[in-house]
Amino acid sequence: MLVRLLYVSRCSSNITPDLVEAVLKSARKTNPPLGLTGLLCHSDNVFLQVLEGDRDQVNFLYNKIAKDPRHKDLCLLHYEPIMERRFSGWAMGQVSLSQTHAALLLKYGAKPQLDPYAISGRASLAMLEELISSAQAGGRS
Ligand SMILES: Cc1cc2nc3c(=O)[nH]c(=O)nc-3n(C[C@H](O)[C@H](O)[C@H](O)COP(=O)(O)O)c2cc1C
Repeated sequence: MLVRLLYVSRCSSNITPDLVEAVLKSARKTNPPLGLTGLLCHSDNVFLQVLEGDRDQVNFLYNKIAKDPRHKDLCLLHYEPIMERRFSGWAMGQVSLSQTHAALLLKYGAKPQLDPYAISGRASLAMLEELISSAQAGGRS
């Protein structure tokens, strides 16, 4: 059975390009053989990740990711059984959100900063979908 999971976390330090690269390297190697797809969105210190795939695989990966010391304050924002994927084209897509996305951030939140802790999981998902539909996410497989 397919599920979609969305969580937010804070980086234990500042998010650097090397850190993002290391995470994406793991994801793009491990996720495809397990049939996992998704998107990793981040700002200076916040990760917002959506995972889609078989329920057991998604649950297992989430539990592994949750123990990763590179981030903290994990909060599960959304979890649902799904009929179809929305991020099927991404082994693990990536998007860096910054001030240049102020209009999009203001559409879904009170401030022009990425703060998924302050908005609903559905609003964060809608924002991620808008990012992929406007081709602002990279790493399509
Ligand atoms: C924000 C974040 C997102 C991650 N996403 C994934 C992912 O999608 N797939 C993956 O295999 N590892 C991901 N990782 C890395 C895992 O936490 C873990 O380090 C990696 O899977 C290697 O695990 P292992 O060698 O102990 O099995 C992520 C880590 C962080 C901090």
